[in-house]
Amino acid sequence: MADNQNGGAHESETAYGRFHRRVLESRAALFAVATTVAISIGGLVEIIPMFTSSMGPEVSDAVTPYTPLEVAGRDIYIREGCYLCHSQMVRPMRAEILRYGEWSRAWEYRYDRPFQLGSRRLGPDLHRLGGKYPDAWHYEHMRDPRSTSPGSVMPAYSWLLDWTVDPADITASIRALAKLGTPYESTEESWVLQQMQSQGEAIVTNLEATGIETTWDREIIAMIAYLQRLGTDGNAVFRGQETAAAPGAPAAGAGGQQ
Ligand code: HEC
Repeated sequence: MADNQNGGAHESETAYGRFHRRVLESRAALFAVATTVAISIGGLVEIIPMFTSSMGPEVSDAVTPYTPLEVAGRDIYIREGCYLCHSQMVRPMRAEILRYGEWSRAWEYRYDRPFQLGSRRLGPDLHRLGGKYPDAWHYEHMRDPRSTSPGSVMPAYSWLLDWTVDPADITASIRALAKLGTPYESTEESWVLQQMQSQGEAIVTNLEATGIETTWDREIIAMIAYLQRLGTDGNAVFRGQETAAAPGAPAAGAGGQQ
C-alpha cells in the first residue's frame, strides 16, 4: 500500500534499511548534517593532497612569472576570447602526447591567474605552442589565418597589428598579480615600461628580418611574446628526459617535444 510514504510496515526491509529510514531520513536536520559530512569526506580526499603535496620537485625553479609584455599578451588573449576555441591543457592520453608533446602538469599553471585551460577545441591545444613557429608566422596568422593555414576557420585579429598597449593598464595587472603572490621585482610603471620595451624591441628586430615593419608597443607584439612563451618552462624541464608515463597512457618514446 502506501507504506513507502507513511512509514508503514516494510516486511522485506533489512535492519540497515530500517535504521536509514527511521533514524536518518525521518529527521531532516540530522540527515542534512550526515550528508554534508559524507560529501565533505570526498571533497577533503581531493583537496588536502593539493595543499600538502609539493606539486612536483621541479616547481621551485622551473616556473617563472609572465613578463610584463607576456602579461599584456595574456590580457589580450582573454579579451579576445581565444580560450573559446583553444585549450591550454595536453591531456595524459597517447594521441595528445603524440600530437602536442608532454601532458600538462599542475605546477606549470603556477602563475596562470586566471588559468586558461579552456573547455573547447575548435583549434589546436596551445599549451606547448612556444617555439613551434617563428614570430613572423604568428604575425601573419593573426593578420589573416588563411594566409598561413589554408582553410582555417579562425577569425582574423588584424586590429592587433594597429592597436597599442598601455603600460598603465599592464602595471595594474602586474600589481594585481603581485598581490596574489606572483614574485615581481618591481610593480612600478617605469619598470613595467622598460621591461615591455626591451622584450618588445627584440621581437620587432626579429620581424624586421622578414620585412615586417612595426613598433614594440603594438598589441601583436605582446601577443607574440605570450604565445612564444606558452609551455616553455615545462618544455625546458622535460627536454632531454624520457617522456614520463602518463596515467593510462603508455610512455611514448615518440612523444617528445617539438
Ligand atoms: C573560432 C575559433 C577560434 C578562435 C576564436 C581562435 N582560434 Fe586560433 N585557431 C583556430 C583554428 C581552427 C586553428 C587551426 C588552423 C589555423 O592554424 O589557423 C587555429 C590555430 C591557431 C594557432 C596555431 C596553433 C598550431 O599549433 O598550429 C594559434 C597560435 C592560434 N590559433 C592562436 C589564437 C589566438 C591567439 C586567438 C585569439 C586572439 C585565437 N587563436 C582565436 C580557431 C580559433
